[in-house]
Amino acid sequence: MKKYFALLLLLGSCFQLFANEPDSVYLFSYATTKNAGHNGLHFAWSMDGKDWKTIGPEFGFVSSDFGAWGSQKRMLTPYLTKGVDGLWHAVWSLNETEPSIAHAASADLVHWKRQSYPVVSKGNCVNPEIRFEAKTAQYLLTWENSLDKKLYGCETKDFKTYTTTHSIDASSRMNDRKSLDLPEGSSVGLVHKVAWSQVALLQKTVELKHYWEALNGERTDDDAVRFANLKPLEVGLNIQTASSKPISDLLTGIFFEDINYAADGGLYAELLENRDFEYTLSDKEGRDKSWTSTHSWSLEGTGSTFTIDTVSPIHPNNPHFAVLNTRQLGASLVNSGWDGIVLKKGEKYDLSLFAKQLEGNNAAVSVSLVGKKGEIYAQTITGGFSRVWKKTSYVLTSNADVTDAKLVIKPLATGVLALDMISLFPQNTFMGRKNGLRKDLAQVVADIHPRFIRFPGGCVAHGDGLGNIYKWKNTIGPLEARKPLRNIWNYHQTGGLGYQEFFQYCEDIGAQPLPVIAAGVPCQNSHVGGPGQQGGVPMCDMNQYVQDILDLIEWANGDAKTTKWGKIRAQNGHPKPFNLKYVGIGNEDLITDIFEERFTMIFKAMKEKHPEITVIGTVGPFYEGTDYEEGWAVATKLQVPMVDEHYYESPGWFINHQDFYDKYDRSKSKVYLGEYAAHLPGRPNNLETALAEALYMTSLERNGDVVSMASYAPMLAKDGHTQWNPDLIYFNNSEVKPTTGYQVQKLYGQNAGDQYITNTLSVPTRDDKVRKRIASSVVRDSKSGDLIVKMVNLLPVKVQTAVKLDNTENLAAQAERFVLTGKPDGRNLIPVVDEIPVSANFICELPAYSFTVIRVKKVIN
Ligand code: AHR
Repeated sequence: MKKYFALLLLLGSCFQLFANEPDSVYLFSYATTKNAGHNGLHFAWSMDGKDWKTIGPEFGFVSSDFGAWGSQKRMLTPYLTKGVDGLWHAVWSLNETEPSIAHAASADLVHWKRQSYPVVSKGNCVNPEIRFEAKTAQYLLTWENSLDKKLYGCETKDFKTYTTTHSIDASSRMNDRKSLDLPEGSSVGLVHKVAWSQVALLQKTVELKHYWEALNGERTDDDAVRFANLKPLEVGLNIQTASSKPISDLLTGIFFEDINYAADGGLYAELLENRDFEYTLSDKEGRDKSWTSTHSWSLEGTGSTFTIDTVSPIHPNNPHFAVLNTRQLGASLVNSGWDGIVLKKGEKYDLSLFAKQLEGNNAAVSVSLVGKKGEIYAQTITGGFSRVWKKTSYVLTSNADVTDAKLVIKPLATGVLALDMISLFPQNTFMGRKNGLRKDLAQVVADIHPRFIRFPGGCVAHGDGLGNIYKWKNTIGPLEARKPLRNIWNYHQTGGLGYQEFFQYCEDIGAQPLPVIAAGVPCQNSHVGGPGQQGGVPMCDMNQYVQDILDLIEWANGDAKTTKWGKIRAQNGHPKPFNLKYVGIGNEDLITDIFEERFTMIFKAMKEKHPEITVIGTVGPFYEGTDYEEGWAVATKLQVPMVDEHYYESPGWFINHQDFYDKYDRSKSKVYLGEYAAHLPGRPNNLETALAEALYMTSLERNGDVVSMASYAPMLAKDGHTQWNPDLIYFNNSEVKPTTGYQVQKLYGQNAGDQYITNTLSVPTRDDKVRKRIASSVVRDSKSGDLIVKMVNLLPVKVQTAVKLDNTENLAAQAERFVLTGKPDGRNLIPVVDEIPVSANFICELPAYSFTVIRVKKVIN
């Protein structure tokens, strides 16, 4: 009831129902020092300049987006002024050290345009001010440098280009910040005179925010109260089979990112950890002193030393290797695998290593797979090493089923031996590929029947700082020449599961490859090598950066005989082109001038050289806000064919935003919903989150003419190594544990269509809360001719659905039905499958909290 009242109030303020408002009032702009300045720009208003009322005191109307979460994103001493261009301009100090000023502008103080962080100082920028100088028709930007205790300034006409910084004297400063006593405590800021409508708009924005917060916060926990009097319902679903529209046949895909040990130690079947001795302290920014070249390796016994060297490595990209100096026999070099090595009785394992004899002759080593008590599961002896690096390979067959074996390399002669790229792979990988994927995990992913695979991220794609941008060329070809990289999620990427393997996996499961490449800027939350976007790839390097992207297209699609990169693909074992059609540029980036300049350059080059490729742009990390608006503006200006939207929201958000795409302009870019998931406190993946996603996905199908692709994120998470929850599939070394949300993705993937059939759900109540929790979608798969009905019931009561099919010709009289149901907090649920009779009028009961899919097969008479 309260919420409806709030809505009425909102409407009241929109239509100016109150006639006795003041013409102008005082507005105070300030940032709180609470929370180290992470709170953004706040407002208070007053009739008389004495008695102040804060506007949604907790609400920051614009927040700083500079640098990493936690340590950065601070707004200190904001200075707000109305410019001669009619826009409000805000500048603020980013922190105590940065030589940059932050700037953003807004027409209404509610919607803020992109931020910029020009470097203007040699020291820091404290207490910035802006003043328009009519004489020169430009703004004078001034600040204090608290390091040399001097005042500086520069001029700008547009807040895009700035004159050289110069000293200023104190008379150029206005020092007009005031300290006011507000209900929440005293704050320092600026007093402005504004029209009442400005304050009304700010108030309305806060009220609207609270209104949405209440809706988005709806959870099944409150259903007992919310639906206390709700009885089982009877609804009708009218399906008009003759009325349809084409929708994307790529709607359900997967998002792969090396997060949560998804690649090394996960999908990538390599059984040894740190096979290349390339772990380094900086992978974890020095926080783990054991994270070095020797990680996962140990020397057991005495008589040898184990050191790391970098002189004459196998390849400069792989500079570290192990040196085993054996003066007396007895010691062994041991690798413990990824929390132990799993072996299956009778299965074969490919062992390979690079070795070089540095001192002595006729070195030989035994290589064994050994249990905790010294049991030997498999063994071989290798030797004949020379003074140059040589690769040797063996096949080991396990004589037992074990989960905690280790690899033991035991010198059988004295001498000094260099070892590198020591690798152990099951032969039984997915599709039997060499350097392949873990079979059980790859199969569970493939079972979704994803129409595309996005890789390598997420944030991994644009990286933590310029030096961490993922480079596809480092991840193809011989493993020993691939360049490992720090993983943005604070571990190590070997690059063993690289572009070559991703493309192969896509081909193996019939999915479109969807590589996502940084738009010439690293992650806006970067902190390694400097904060934020770090100015982007320097413009002098951008031509090469663009060329690398064009080379990717040639590598994927070029002729194996006539193109340089096509030849390389063929040499690496894949003469046939991969038929790449989609490339993502950027990942939920901060939309700045730095971004736009680089994105435009890449986009134009791709459009010119490869018009056949669909470029997917990016519109920030949220479904609203500056990056979303600015990203869409860039995409619309450049006519980018598709954009990548991301949002992780509450189940309540998904329930209450099913109309999100209903209103999207069909003449603009198509949408790839590249990352989404329903998040509850505690971040479980349970039936409540899964049904919220299923409900929302009915709207994705309905809008499949504008939403071309969608992928839940993230996908994989290894027990004990998870940085992000929820995920779709959890696993450990021997088990794969698909979540309830996985079942929803699989039901959609396995029951996709390419035609959306007009269907009308009639729910006999005016209660919106009830109406929004029942949804349907009907599609036809034109290949099979099957008709697929999906229905979601997120209510605590059962719903009897009277389905009316206008035409049953060519449809089977029995249909397969899948029902996913349980308690809202149910995890790892599995759908129940049965058959139901289908006719022109049939009844289907939807259990409380359930997702039902009915697949009616086409029959040929
Ligand atoms: O999916 C996990 C992360 O969420 C992705 O890396 C990033 O793009 C998003 O913020």
